[in-house]
Amino acid sequence: MFFNRKKKVELNTGNIPKHIGIIMDGNGRWATRRGLPRSAGHRAGAETLRKITEHCSDIGVKAITAYAFSTENWNRPPAEVDALMKLLYEYLKDSEKRLAGKNNKIRVIGDRSKLSDEIIREIKRTEELTRDNCGLVLNLAINYGGRDEITRAARLLATDAQSGTLEPSDITADILGERLYTSGLPEVELIIRTGGERRLSNFLLWQSAYAEFWYTDIYFPDFGKKDIDQAIFDFQNRDRRYGKL
Ligand code: FPP
Repeated sequence: MFFNRKKKVELNTGNIPKHIGIIMDGNGRWATRRGLPRSAGHRAGAETLRKITEHCSDIGVKAITAYAFSTENWNRPPAEVDALMKLLYEYLKDSEKRLAGKNNKIRVIGDRSKLSDEIIREIKRTEELTRDNCGLVLNLAINYGGRDEITRAARLLATDAQSGTLEPSDITADILGERLYTSGLPEVELIIRTGGERRLSNFLLWQSAYAEFWYTDIYFPDFGKKDIDQAIFDFQNRDRRYGKL
């Protein structure tokens, strides 16, 4: 990326992306470079996510969806999967303390059926505690896959059609969208991927239809407030035509 990381940008407060998706990549490489275990990179990434959430909340972003564990991440070595699950548990526990007095809402999106009872309990507890907050919504995507999400929505629609509560001819994109995990949230307007890769990796497939993409080589643990401001500044200077001229 050709941005000057030291330069502070002036954001247009009237055009802050309402919903940002983040692919938090590069934790493992960040740790390996320092001679640390990969789990230390994930831990540092979790801290970065906290800082970014706080900053986004301050500047008026309404929702963040963070890709914390994909449906494919189960294929990693068991020790790394365990470390990520432990980190998720701690993140949720810690959020209860940190969010006291703050107005943010935490939700977990994805298929919970493979998660441990302990984690499911903690997810429910954190969601319940923050349910009535009306500030930024932080969606943690855990055991999440875009194809999985769309398949689930199709299954829900088919069930409604079968029970006679929905006519197949009445199914529209909006109606399908209501069956996605992100239902009720603003459109995803910006997707950021750290760590140098330039692909979507099964993240927010439906929601990214008109999103702007921003990639950077920076490893996620090093991604700071100035970097997110750069991404938003770049977003604000794009011409979003939605297929029109
Ligand atoms: C990808 O980096 C990152 C992940 C698979 C996990 C992301 C998780 C966090 C940042 C932890 C924070 C969140 C919670 C709530 C647990 P990678 O491991 O593929 O890095 P690499 O490409 O350098 O190997």
